[in-house]
Amino acid sequence: MLERLEGLEKDALAALEAVQDSAALAAWKTACLGRSSPLATFMGDLGSLPAEQRPQAGKRGNEIKRALESALAAREETLKAADLERSLQSEKLDVTLPGRPVRRGRLHPSSQVLRRIYTVWADMGFQIYRSRNVELDEYNFTLLNIPPHHPARDMWDTFYGTDPGVLLRTHTSPGQIHAMREYAPEPVRVILPGMCFRYEQITARSEIQFHQVEGLAVGPGITFANLKGTLADFARRMWGGNVRTQFRADHFPFTEPSLEMDIECFLCGGKGCTVCKYSGWLEILGAGMVHPTVLKNGGYDPKTVSGFAFGMGPERIAMLRHGIEDIRNFWGNDLRFLEQF
Ligand code: DAH
Repeated sequence: MLERLEGLEKDALAALEAVQDSAALAAWKTACLGRSSPLATFMGDLGSLPAEQRPQAGKRGNEIKRALESALAAREETLKAADLERSLQSEKLDVTLPGRPVRRGRLHPSSQVLRRIYTVWADMGFQIYRSRNVELDEYNFTLLNIPPHHPARDMWDTFYGTDPGVLLRTHTSPGQIHAMREYAPEPVRVILPGMCFRYEQITARSEIQFHQVEGLAVGPGITFANLKGTLADFARRMWGGNVRTQFRADHFPFTEPSLEMDIECFLCGGKGCTVCKYSGWLEILGAGMVHPTVLKNGGYDPKTVSGFAFGMGPERIAMLRHGIEDIRNFWGNDLRFLEQF
């Protein structure tokens, strides 16, 4: 009887040695340790043994069960280690190879200038006010004191929609009306950045699309001195504390009086070069005191408040800064140009 038990152990251990994978291991477990295994059957039949053999047979049976269980665990470990070894051999990975470089994008040169402009105006207390690219004729012209047939409209020819009176804005100035109508009668201090469009023959100096950054401050007691001081301060923050500015009289229908601001050429320091066309000055922006009619159209009483406005072109600023000679580069989508910034 006990011999049968010893033989059973030997056979089971021999079978375990032959097991090479986890499926075979599971099958072995069922066959040798399962409920209908020879060992389980033997243990179940203990009662049929003569009483004096029973304790020893039972004890030996349990020992064999434990021995098979630990042999199973050991075999499992061995198989796992072999598995790992195999995958380490077959899936060799050279961690010393150099990585593949990630192609990093960058900000468009216009975005870089825009962000710089935002920061400077934000530091001076101006909020960004977003306004629409598709405008009504009324906002783009009429409410800005440019009535139909006004000759100034010729300066700003644009793309018209099929609905009458709908157009792509030619400048960011119509945003002034939107901002004023939202804030009036409270004071307002905003910049209005965005894309503008003009119906132009495309040349190195003119494009059909470009950015502008408009500015607007309206409130009680705002003076021409505030306008000049604010613009000169902007120039110093933008181009450095030593930059010199000059103001020239100009005309815009929506401001009175109107001016243009130049900064001293940062390339030649005012001595004269090709960029400043030997004038020593670079034209940077247009500005003026908001015309009373425009204030009224924005919902303000020109007798109690006044304000100033200005408009500048970030592409022009970028062109001056980097010596870019052709404005078509900005929207030409040529990486050889864009990757230089
Ligand atoms: N809108 C003008 C343009 O497109 C620029 C401009 C000039 C804006 C004077 C202003 C301003 O707000 O006061 O050329």
